[in-house]
Amino acid sequence: MVPVALGLLICLINFNGTAPMIAVQGLDDGAAPPSEDIVHHLIDAKKTLVDNIVHKFLPTPAAGFKVLAIGGDDGDVNIYSSAELYDSLTATWKATGSMSVPRTNFVAVKLLDGRVLVTGGVETSSTAAQPLATCEIYDPVTGVWNSTGSMAIPRFYHQLVVLPTGLVLVSGGYSIGSSGFFAASASELYNATTGTWTPTGSMKNGRGQFAMVSLPDGNALVAGGYNLRFELASTEVYTASTGQWSVVAPMSTMRVFLNLVALSDGKVLATGGQNATALLATSELYDPATSKWSATGSLPAALESSASALLGDGTVLLAGGATNDGIAATSEIYSEATGAWLPTGSLSTARFTVPAVALGASTVLVAGGGNATGLALASAELFNTATGAWSTTAAMSVPRIGFQLVAL
Ligand SMILES: *[C@@H]1O[C@H](CO)[C@@H](O)[C@H](O)[C@H]1NC(C)=O
Ligand SMILES: *[C@@H]1O[C@H](CO)[C@@H](O)[C@H](O)[C@H]1NC(C)=O
Ligand SMILES: *[C@@H]1O[C@H](CO)[C@@H](O)[C@H](O)[C@H]1NC(C)=O
Ligand SMILES: *[C@@H]1O[C@H](CO)[C@@H](O)[C@H](O)[C@H]1NC(C)=O
Repeated sequence: MVPVALGLLICLINFNGTAPMIAVQGLDDGAAPPSEDIVHHLIDAKKTLVDNIVHKFLPTPAAGFKVLAIGGDDGDVNIYSSAELYDSLTATWKATGSMSVPRTNFVAVKLLDGRVLVTGGVETSSTAAQPLATCEIYDPVTGVWNSTGSMAIPRFYHQLVVLPTGLVLVSGGYSIGSSGFFAASASELYNATTGTWTPTGSMKNGRGQFAMVSLPDGNALVAGGYNLRFELASTEVYTASTGQWSVVAPMSTMRVFLNLVALSDGKVLATGGQNATALLATSELYDPATSKWSATGSLPAALESSASALLGDGTVLLAGGATNDGIAATSEIYSEATGAWLPTGSLSTARFTVPAVALGASTVLVAGGGNATGLALASAELFNTATGAWSTTAAMSVPRIGFQLVAL
């Protein structure tokens, strides 16, 4: 089984069967969600701290931003093929073309030509949810999806990065073969000109529910995850020029459901997640110059599956997530200069497994995610880096978790 510790986890059930299903598992430790009173108390207690945080003022860009919300599920039985577009100028969502199949727990990325590539995931079928190898491309000019080449293997809970050449690297994820589910180590490269995937080097460790970021030298770093038997501290680097992976120093602890953010100076911040026995408050920094991790400040509380975004001033925002006390509405900011996490404004709705996208340097959009019952949310909120405050914006047309938000 996927690690099921404290709090809420997206859980895969029936792993060795031939009729796999996915489900969102509810709180299994009986913890009650935080009440309104407790949330308001926390907001008051934090106000002084928030007021003390110095936020660098960043001007709002003249042109608006568009963000595509794609697929996902409602935390229950419905998986979506639909997509919708958020327009920051009108602060509204509008329907756009739908994918050819419903997908959840897939990965999407913006290509260098502005189109959006969607890969794999899980779809419903008449009998059970099935992992997908298929891929589709969204053209923001026409609002139309077209199918493109399939990956060699079905994957979900995998990761993607765009390399400087424009090729897209896909790696890991859970897959299914003749003897059931396995954690993939295989990696593939997508060429948008030909619309095809070709194999590249494999990771040393198969893994799903891990994190991957691009490094400034054009290579890619993966960290943590789960291999269907145990949680991983392992990290590996993909060298784009050779197409090979090398194992680098592991993190100080295993981390599944971690946040991994590439900082503007080239270092990479790994935060929270869970190991085999506990949710984690610790964070650590990877330095590509030494290929080593070193400890940095800890979060106020252990946290996993929160939203994360790099802000325009180089700090990192975390929002929401699952804690030992239930689902969080809190958010925190990390400054590499001080090595400390400080609380900032709170979300109006507690949420976990929630995506975030930066809209320029001064705003972050979060949408959807799961609530304390494990059901998906439709609501969306904007973080203002100048004030450290969240404000609600229009909700999506449907509640979505396991979906992707991509800034166009
Ligand atoms: C993309 O899909 C649309 C609608 O299904 C179709 O009309 C169009 O010809 C396709 N375009 C390409 C390039 O395949
Ligand atoms: C993608 O494929 C095209 C057509 O074969 C080729 O010319 C191009 O070099 C490839 N791109 C990369 C980055 O390899
Ligand atoms: C998991 O993390 C907790 C908290 O940091 C630590 O006490 C524990 O030893 C770790 N467990 C494993 C198996 O690494
Ligand atoms: C989660 O959302 C569902 C559906 O909107 C709602 O019925 C449920 O009460 C919510 N749970 C919590 C704890 O807010």
